[in-house]
Amino acid sequence: MQVILSQIGDCILRRCELGDLIPVMEINLQTLPEHYSDYFYESLLEELPEAFIVAEIDGKVIGYVMCKTEYGFSNFKKLGFVKKGHVVSIAVLEQHRGKGIGTMLVNESLKGVKMKQCGEMYLEVRCSNNDAVKLYERLGFAILQRPKSYYRDGEDAFLMAIDFTS
Ligand code: ACO
Ligand code: ZN
Repeated sequence: MQVILSQIGDCILRRCELGDLIPVMEINLQTLPEHYSDYFYESLLEELPEAFIVAEIDGKVIGYVMCKTEYGFSNFKKLGFVKKGHVVSIAVLEQHRGKGIGTMLVNESLKGVKMKQCGEMYLEVRCSNNDAVKLYERLGFAILQRPKSYYRDGEDAFLMAIDFTS
């Protein structure tokens, strides 16, 4: 049974299922230069279904967010070792942007990683991706580092993170 996690206008958010992976991969191909193998999508869905969310309008997937969890040094606590959520990829089809769907996807993924006892969540985003950076900042993410030439084409990333414990 599919559980609706949230709704905005005619758009519903629900957990991704195996049958959604093809449309998710198609949206990724259309919207972002970073692509992944089929196996990688399947493994994220298997590892963290709580934070692999799709947005659907009239039965058609139009956006997704997918995440993983990692153990490592905290982005906030000096020398702290923590379980962190990592937003691997998020996208909404262009014709459906600016309606709050991306914001809802990130919000649901935050809930999902909190269910898995993560103390923080982080992501990388292109420095030129103003829309995404603003969205993350509005949700409480802060820019903490600027990894140089992080992307294949040489562009820097912003490493942005949010602390659930403060
Ligand atoms: N009505 C009108 N406007 C709204 C509404 C609403 N109900 N709700 C939010 N907005 C505005 C927001 O204020 C926001 O503007 P602001 O950030 O300047 O304040 C703007 O619309 C966008 O917010 P959303 O609508 O919530 O987000 P959207 O659905 O447009 O998705 C996303 C954002 C995912 C970044 C989209 O632009 C996209 O797919 N881009 C291409 C792929 C991409 O760059 N992904 C991120 C890469 S980084 C990574 O994956 C970790
Ligand atoms: Zn990343």
